[in-house]
Amino acid sequence: MASKAALLSLLPFVAANLNKPVITPNFPGNGLASLGPGLMNNLAPTHSTWDDWGAGWIPSDCKSMVQGAGFSPNDIIPFNIHYDDCAQTWTFCRHKNSPLSEIQILDIFGRLPVRMRQFVRHLVFVPGNKSAGSNGDNVLMVGDVDVTVFAHEIGHSLDSHAFDPSYGVPFSTGNVWVSNYNLDSAVPDPYAQSSQQENFAQQTVVSLYDKVVPGGIGTIQPNWQAIFHQYATLEGYIGNVIIPGGTCTHRLTDSAPVTMSGSKKSRRALGPKPKVSLSPEVKEIEAIPMESSITMTSFDEHGKPNGTYVIHL
Ligand SMILES: *[C@@H]1O[C@H](CO)[C@@H](O)[C@H](O)[C@H]1NC(C)=O
Ligand SMILES: *[C@@H]1O[C@H](CO)[C@@H](O)[C@H](O)[C@H]1NC(C)=O
Repeated sequence: MASKAALLSLLPFVAANLNKPVITPNFPGNGLASLGPGLMNNLAPTHSTWDDWGAGWIPSDCKSMVQGAGFSPNDIIPFNIHYDDCAQTWTFCRHKNSPLSEIQILDIFGRLPVRMRQFVRHLVFVPGNKSAGSNGDNVLMVGDVDVTVFAHEIGHSLDSHAFDPSYGVPFSTGNVWVSNYNLDSAVPDPYAQSSQQENFAQQTVVSLYDKVVPGGIGTIQPNWQAIFHQYATLEGYIGNVIIPGGTCTHRLTDSAPVTMSGSKKSRRALGPKPKVSLSPEVKEIEAIPMESSITMTSFDEHGKPNGTYVIHL
């Protein structure tokens, strides 16, 4: 099936909004995909169980993202993941042809620190050329994206929720971030140059690597000083959010269950309507409102970000 996204023009990264150059030497491949193996080797999986959602039901945010990407909600299998380190399940939505299996998805996501995982709501997986985008604390993942893409997209939610709001919301627009950015001579890659928010999300990947991989970011980037104030500010102000261990303390409520198909005729047998209430063991985080479009970042076959396209919901 042709995805609607395929009909949209792919744009290379054009006007860089940030005026600092990309770090030299570049990270291998001039993106952050080279940080993936180190992250996977040093982040332990979290034990979990998973089960399918009530037949015929889909979280409303999943439905709008899937339809925006040109797919039928009937081809989506929503599933719950119960991780041992969080009282509240996550509900993700996977297209039956996604190259990432449920097992791969719960493994990659479960390796990320739980205090980081707790800031996102639905992750949605569809087939297609590798790309990803965040909207309303949900993430649309296309193709076989890796752990660095998961960390980057969650980084957008961290930017909005994981800091003391007095430093600015999102944090990447506030004075602490901008003044430390000003002390550095570079940004990690061309993707980071596109905006302070994308820069922050890329620095989330750098900071996570710096914290969990022995020897830190200097083991892969000899000129780490050129971006030091940015990732060190993120590390300092976000504290243990990017450190593995502990349990979730906060969560977002899942979006409301809606039926997969509108017409009664084409409806699959409808199971009991799933409950989306939040466990009393976690405090509620108010989600960023969903916007009517998602800017997707596309990646080449080596995982290097190579452009953007927009999906309208
Ligand atoms: C994926 O990219 C190729 C070009 O590299 C294009 O021909 C194809 O239509 C794309 N597929 C989708 C689903 O966008
Ligand atoms: C990015 O790379 C993918 C895979 O090679 C390709 O399909 C897509 O057209 C490229 N996008 C741009 C904007 O060059």
